[in-house]
Amino acid sequence: MKSIQVGLLGIGTVGGGTFRVLQRNQAEIMRRAGRGIEIAMVAARDLDKARALVGQAAQVVGDPFAVVNHADIDIVVEVIGGTTLAKQLVLQAIANGKHVVTANKALLAEHGNEIFAAAHAKGVMVAFEGAVAVSIPIIKALREGLSGNRIEWVAGIINGTTNFILTEMRDKGLSFDAALAAAQELGYAEADPTFDIGGFDAAHKATILCSIAFGIPVQFAKAHVEGIQTLQAADIAYAFQLGYRIKLLGITKRTAAGVELRVHPTLIPAKRLLANVEGSMNGIMVKSDAAGITMYYGAGAGSEQTASAVIADLVDVTRLCSANTAQRVPHLAFQPDAMSNTPVLPMSDVVTSYYLRLNVADEAGVLANVTSILAKANISIDAVLQREADEVGGEGATQTDLIILTHDCVEARMNEALAQMQALKTVLAPIVRIRKEELA
Ligand code: NDP
Ligand code: HSE
Repeated sequence: MKSIQVGLLGIGTVGGGTFRVLQRNQAEIMRRAGRGIEIAMVAARDLDKARALVGQAAQVVGDPFAVVNHADIDIVVEVIGGTTLAKQLVLQAIANGKHVVTANKALLAEHGNEIFAAAHAKGVMVAFEGAVAVSIPIIKALREGLSGNRIEWVAGIINGTTNFILTEMRDKGLSFDAALAAAQELGYAEADPTFDIGGFDAAHKATILCSIAFGIPVQFAKAHVEGIQTLQAADIAYAFQLGYRIKLLGITKRTAAGVELRVHPTLIPAKRLLANVEGSMNGIMVKSDAAGITMYYGAGAGSEQTASAVIADLVDVTRLCSANTAQRVPHLAFQPDAMSNTPVLPMSDVVTSYYLRLNVADEAGVLANVTSILAKANISIDAVLQREADEVGGEGATQTDLIILTHDCVEARMNEALAQMQALKTVLAPIVRIRKEELA
């Protein structure tokens, strides 16, 4: 049988890895797919660089539309990135009846509904395993492996760059900037690294996980997003003393009122496996009613690591492209006419527990005032750590840190209590609030 013809859009970190791994493992991949998978065309900006990479194996062109419009191309692999040109190319490929494989989470989180609707109407597949936690087959696990379950929550370290930065800062004492430069050098970071540091990349991925876990449309605009920019070394150290680690988590949870979708630094118990996911590795926990908690671990970024997912999609599409469309796995796991309109909740409705650090005057009654505000707000305290003033500010210091861990409460109530505590004259600096999840 003739090899399936692939058009590769972009031959950078992911495109280059995909080309290399496909060549290296060609025979093994063919044994699995049942026919050859051949990259026949490559679109690149730097044609000389691309030709040096692919040699005579594929035609290199400067115009990516020449690839998506070419009659011989069966599958288009979009690894250019971004949401403007990539969207035009993907929609054009679909309109031309071509299947699409993409690792572009930004594109799917922001325009997935339109893209999947177009693909459904045209009867083609859009596969995206590389878009979330690259070497971990989490899309397959949620869409297929756990399809007998009612999923309750998904929580994960789903950005390799920020996990790498946090680990390097803690283990090697690197500055934030030095750790970020190392992540960029290793090809982990997005073209614009604020996507990573600001939590947006993780939110793109959490948005996709949310949709396939709960069968709702992709709704990136409703995700609550906080990054690691404002995280302070003091809080990492206090969390450690209290038996926790701080990780940037993507969390999506089903509740009676709707679905939570949030990304923020989070305290998690040090004894959880997830707390020990270090460097650029990713880890994802899924809680579902029948399987219970399952956990997935693997590289979260990188050239061949992402190629592994892209090629798995190529194999899937190759196997299924001649199958009846009804036999294919729906893009968002649930049949398009069975999607639900369960709302994504505003952050004020989220229920979670908290780590609070208050820099306070070291005088009588301060703790009582703070705990009285929490008690009036019906927020229950789990633990309190009060540091000696001279340990925090040196000998003779008159201020100290008060750390409070709370039990669960609704965020709106915590916001009100925080405003009252912040107004106390004895609270001397902006209160640090980090959310905490027990993941039990
Ligand atoms: P790179 O920047 O390394 O690669 C993108 C490539 O696309 C570059 O070679 C670039 O060319 C090329 N390109 C850009 N515009 C055009 C154009 N108009 N025509 C032809 N080629 C073009 O990015 P990555 O490979 O890292 O990322 C690609 C996608 O994969 C992104 O969506 C990213 O989010 C996603 N991804 C990345 C992962 C990673 O670990 N890096 C992991 C998972 C997903 P030039 O070099 O000339 O600019
Ligand atoms: N920039 C992303 C990360 C790449 O660091 O996780 C993988 O999606």
